Amino acid sequence: MKKLILAFMMLALPGLAAAAGAGPHLDQANIDLTDKASLQRGARLFVNYCLNCHSASFMRYKRMGDDLGIPDKLVEENLLFTTDKVREPMKVAMSVKDAGNWFGTAPPDLSVMARAKGSGNEGANWLYTYFRSFYVDESRPFGVNNTVFKDVGMPHVLWELQGMQTLVNAEELAKHASAKPEFALNQPGSMSAGEYDQAARDLTNFMVYMGEPAQLERKSLGIWVALFLIFFFFIAYALKKEYWKDIH
Ligand code: HEC
Repeated sequence: MKKLILAFMMLALPGLAAAAGAGPHLDQANIDLTDKASLQRGARLFVNYCLNCHSASFMRYKRMGDDLGIPDKLVEENLLFTTDKVREPMKVAMSVKDAGNWFGTAPPDLSVMARAKGSGNEGANWLYTYFRSFYVDESRPFGVNNTVFKDVGMPHVLWELQGMQTLVNAEELAKHASAKPEFALNQPGSMSAGEYDQAARDLTNFMVYMGEPAQLERKSLGIWVALFLIFFFFIAYALKKEYWKDIH
């Protein structure tokens, strides 16, 4: 048995190491979940630029406001779509079917995306790098591609802030997938490079925060479902006994 485990490890480890090494280069997000101002700026970016297409259905506006120290009234005035209520989850403005038709892929729910993209800091680093890695690619439907999400089906929604950049070392990246991409800003946006990095960090910070309470909510729902199933098992068992008692 021990030999078997050893053999498995010898086979699997180099494979895992190779898989880890072959991924795209990721920058360090360096987020701070205790920085309320950063989380609030991130929430604002998220509501203004992402909810048009994505939902965050495990996250409620009220919960967000309470956690981030934003009073209900301010959430209502500044962060809600006029049709939404402060107690509602963050829904998307368009139907999944329309989204699928327009983009080819429906924009996924973002409630727990930071966790889906990797454990520990990895998910945060992925998101932070993703927001800063859109570049001009005329062959793509929206005119942009992304170095961490090849042939992405999402437009560069923050281009007015960042501007538009081109990929300088495409050939090197084609040869070494994990090389660090180099970009050149050929059309400046409303923010400087440093300001945009901070905006990407705020947005990432908010999405990591969002993944935590959203997970709690999802798990507590799961517990009720499990409890119901256990309860139902006993009912079913009692019924079975009742039905069969005269036959034996
Ligand atoms: C115009 C619609 C649209 C907007 C606005 C938009 N997205 Fe997207 N997004 C998409 C689509 C479509 C995809 C799916 C892309 C694919 O699978 O190729 C996507 C994919 C993603 C992914 C990758 C998901 C995965 O499965 O790997 C992330 C992360 C993401 N979006 C975050 C955001 C954030 C954060 C914002 C706001 C700053 C935002 N998006 C705004 C349409 C949009």
